[in-house]
Parts: sequence; C-alpha cells; structure tokens
Amino acid sequence: MRTENGLILENQEISYETYRMIVKTSIAREASCGQFVQIQVPGYYLRRPISICNAEDDRITFVYKTVGEGTKAMSQMKAGEEISLFGPLGTGFPNEDRDVLLIGGGVGTPPLLFTAKKYIAAGHHVTAVLGFNDAKSVMLEKEFKEAGCDVYVATMDGSYGTKGTVIDAIAANNIKDTFVLSCGPLPMLKAVSAKYTDGCVSLESRMACGMGACMGCVVKDHEGESLRVCKDGPVFAIGKVVL
Ligand SMILES: Cc1cc2nc3c(=O)[nH]c(=O)nc-3n(C[C@H](O)[C@H](O)[C@H](O)COP(=O)(O)OP(=O)(O)OC[C@H]3O[C@@H](n4cnc5c(N)ncnc54)[C@H](O)[C@@H]3O)c2cc1C
Ligand code: FES
Repeated sequence: MRTENGLILENQEISYETYRMIVKTSIAREASCGQFVQIQVPGYYLRRPISICNAEDDRITFVYKTVGEGTKAMSQMKAGEEISLFGPLGTGFPNEDRDVLLIGGGVGTPPLLFTAKKYIAAGHHVTAVLGFNDAKSVMLEKEFKEAGCDVYVATMDGSYGTKGTVIDAIAANNIKDTFVLSCGPLPMLKAVSAKYTDGCVSLESRMACGMGACMGCVVKDHEGESLRVCKDGPVFAIGKVVL
C-alpha cells in the first residue's frame, strides 16, 4: 500500500449520477479484487473509500455515485488533473478454484466486475445478478457481459429486468449456483446471508484512516469480537459478522 498522486485519464458520467474515473497509477499493479482505495478529493480532509472496479497495468478504474459533497466534487475533476490515492487497502475476495455467483446491488456492483474478470481468466463460469432501484440506475451490465458473465438484472420498480430484488431475479431465472460473492446495501447482504452459507459479503462502513489504526469502522462478529471493515474486511465470510 502507498500514497501516490495518480493522473486522471477519464472521468465521465456512465449512468444516473454515476461516474467512471480511470486513473494512471502504479497502485494498479498491487490491486486485487474486492480491495479499495482511499481517495483524497481536493478540499476535503477525510479520504473517500472507493472500490477498485478494474486494475490493468498502470490503470485503476473507479465507478462511483455522487451521494454527497465529496463525490460531487470528485465528479467535477477533469482528465489531466492529479488525484491523491492511498491503497490498495483491505482484504478482498478470495480467488477460489470454482464457478461463482456474483450478487451486486447499486454501488456494490463495481468491485464485482474486477472479481468477475479474475474468475473468468482462471477458466470459471461466472453468473452475475445485479440489482438496482430503476432502469436509469443500472450500471456495468454491458461490461459484465463483455467480460463473459451470464448477467441478470433486477430493478425494484420493474422498469428493467426482473421486478424486485436480486433474490427475486435468482428465483425467476432458476440460478442454482451455491458459491456466492456479494457486495451491496445492508438489506441485500442480509437477504444473501439468509439464503446462502458458502461465500463472502463485502461491507461498507464510514472510515477515517482506512488502514486499521483508528477503530472507526468496527463491526462485531458473532462471538462479540471487534473487526475492522477497512483491514480485516471489507470482505468477510458469510455468517462471520453481525449484519
Ligand atoms: C470499502 C468501501 C468501498 C466503497 N466503494 C464504493 C464504490 O466503488 N462506489 C461508490 O459509489 N461508493 C463506494 N463506497 C461508498 C463511498 O465511500 C461513499 O459514497 C462516499 O464516501 C461518500 O462521500 P461523500 O463526500 O460524497 O458523501 P458525504 O455523505 O458528504 O460524506 C461525509 C463523510 O462520510 C463518509 N461516507 C459517506 N457515505 C459513506 C459510505 N457509504 N461508506 C463509507 N463512508 C461514507 C465519507 O467518506 C465522508 O468522510 C464505498 C465505501 C466503502 C467503505
Ligand atoms: S477506518 Fe481506521 S480502523 Fe478502519
């Protein structure tokens, strides 16, 4: 892990209030799937944790939603500007020697694209089930397909794909895989953990240091032990952490 000024190569809107930023940085060479980077948005003291959506050679792709001041300022940055990155951080998804079902919700979808590419490169079959609120919020479907995944989309309002949750899409499409890697909002991770026992979920938490020092991102496991989302996670085995 290191702090480095990366060069923004691209920063553009790809779906509703959602941007893709590609940064030239040597951090890309150390990145593994499920890890994240703490991004320093100029003018904001606390870095923003954003997942690695892809890393190739010396380029990292981030896909992020503009939810507050920091990400809105990030969306205004232009190609050619520098941006301070700290990473790669966290314990990512396991690279297991088997087929996988990826279940993503909203901005939990980006780290699963990097994960899909790793599993496909290793010769495994990847099914991706992606859930969003509505058609305008759907992101990365084309990229998952281009990577070689079987892709199923669910939207809560039924404006695209299966109407309902990712769990509804899994049932509607008779998806039988049992090894699951998942990232998304807490209610979705709870539903995934209720249905599956084999696999991992990736959690979000408000972060300060991002490297295990401040205990600002702690969650509890079922024995009451404290775990840091930034260092022990963000990826945990299903059933490990109290959700
Ligand atoms: C490990 C990890 C990976 C993430 N990956 C992505 C991603 O790939 N794409 C994406 O769109 N979002 C991702 N997020 C969420 C993203 O970090 C927040 O949306 C972002 O920090 C919001 O910043 P803001 O200044 O716009 O919002 P504000 O609400 O103005 O932020 C105020 C403070 O709260 C923190 N904060 C607010 N929401 C969150 C949140 N959900 N999680 C953690 N900290 C938060 C901010 O970092 C900031 O310090 C990830 C979060 C974590 C923990
Ligand atoms: S953010 Fe400091 S320990 Fe996790």
